Amino acid sequence: MSALPRSGLHASLSDPLLDTMNFLNEVASRHPRAISFAPGRPHDGFFATEEIFAHLRRYVEHLADEGSTPEQIRNALYQYGPAAGKIRELIARSLLLDEGIDVPAASIVVTVGAQEAMLLVVRALMADPADVLLVSSPCYMGITGAARLLDVDVVPVPERPDGLAPADVVDAVEAQVARGRRPRALYVIPDHANPSGVTMSLPARYALLDVAERHDILLIEDSPYRLVSPGEQVPTLKRLDTGRRVVHLGTFAKTIFPGARVGYVVADQPVDGGDAGAAGLLADGLAKIKSMVTVNTPTLTHAGVGGGVLGGGGRLGALNERPAEYYGESMRLMLEHLDRRLPPARRAELGVDWNRPGGGFFLAMSVPFLADNAALARSAEQFGVLWTPMSYFHPGGGGERALRLSTSYLTAAEIEEGTERLARFITAEAARSAELLV
Ligand SMILES: Cc1ncc(COP(=O)(O)O)c(C=O)c1O
Repeated sequence: MSALPRSGLHASLSDPLLDTMNFLNEVASRHPRAISFAPGRPHDGFFATEEIFAHLRRYVEHLADEGSTPEQIRNALYQYGPAAGKIRELIARSLLLDEGIDVPAASIVVTVGAQEAMLLVVRALMADPADVLLVSSPCYMGITGAARLLDVDVVPVPERPDGLAPADVVDAVEAQVARGRRPRALYVIPDHANPSGVTMSLPARYALLDVAERHDILLIEDSPYRLVSPGEQVPTLKRLDTGRRVVHLGTFAKTIFPGARVGYVVADQPVDGGDAGAAGLLADGLAKIKSMVTVNTPTLTHAGVGGGVLGGGGRLGALNERPAEYYGESMRLMLEHLDRRLPPARRAELGVDWNRPGGGFFLAMSVPFLADNAALARSAEQFGVLWTPMSYFHPGGGGERALRLSTSYLTAAEIEEGTERLARFITAEAARSAELLV
């Protein structure tokens, strides 16, 4: 058979968005000794092989305590399961205990990571070619990628140094409406955002909920870094949501078990019957879509995560105290070493700056040169240090002179050595771009 013409395949396959991570992975594999500030992976040290078996056993015991027979337990592990998932009650309880979010289990769908939840929500909400999804810019690629696969148009709303400004959301909504388009929802990461590291203040959260109500849009809240961040967290949008404006996404990838690929969505929005069927919740519709995507989230990984939650007494908070402290300390160390390598006078001279997130895995750095794939390749080859170009995260262009730096995966010694390499790279690139200007 002759080669399939790419032009005959779905346009997403030619979209650079779907290639960006491949480039990073390829550079990383060519330079295995480089220190990488690129991956947003949790630290390996918090996982132990034997614990998986303990999680599974605990879940089985839980089912027995609840009255399941040995046959029912066997089938719960071996058989196909309900599309909406089997640990909805456990998730509802942990949301209440950890976050004060009080929602019925029936409003929860267990998904294959938060990633599948994004796909289901975007599919369900975007009904017409005029429907658009607003996203903060820079933005997590998982949501823009999901929208791309579904041919949904994404409208970037520029994020400010202190997070998404509700007034900017209003401007974006009004501009789209003036063009005859219908903004349906806004995707936002209110806490320790990926990639920028910024957190929205409480007043900004209230104002955003108000904008959603007044302009009749939904807020898709994604907040995987709260429980792995130190100190008190600002309440989630879902906690503050009295009008069911917020669809809340969750994942166990940063807390209990990244490889299990278990996440969830809370969608307690009522859906009326219309011509198409009975009234219910948006979650019911999401489960219906899921039944045609992954059928059900694998029962075994459900059990692994369920057992993990039970091990924390039904909540994730206590389980994550140590990781939250660890990640907080990594971020603090990163900032301390950056300050030492590039003190204020030196960075002013170079034109470099960075923000100071109080938690999460990422910080954003602005630089005086093009931080593109070519610069990344030079950084890997000549300085042995990797980072992520911020431009990857800007769906409408932008971020060409900025980097995302991740602190989650590295040891203290690697952070110390990595910042030294990074400072040398930045100094060399700044000189190089100054020379190019002459
Ligand atoms: C903003 C955001 N959402 C979700 C996820 C995780 O999604 P998943 O549960 O599919 O691993 C990540 C992880 O990188 C993330 O940064």
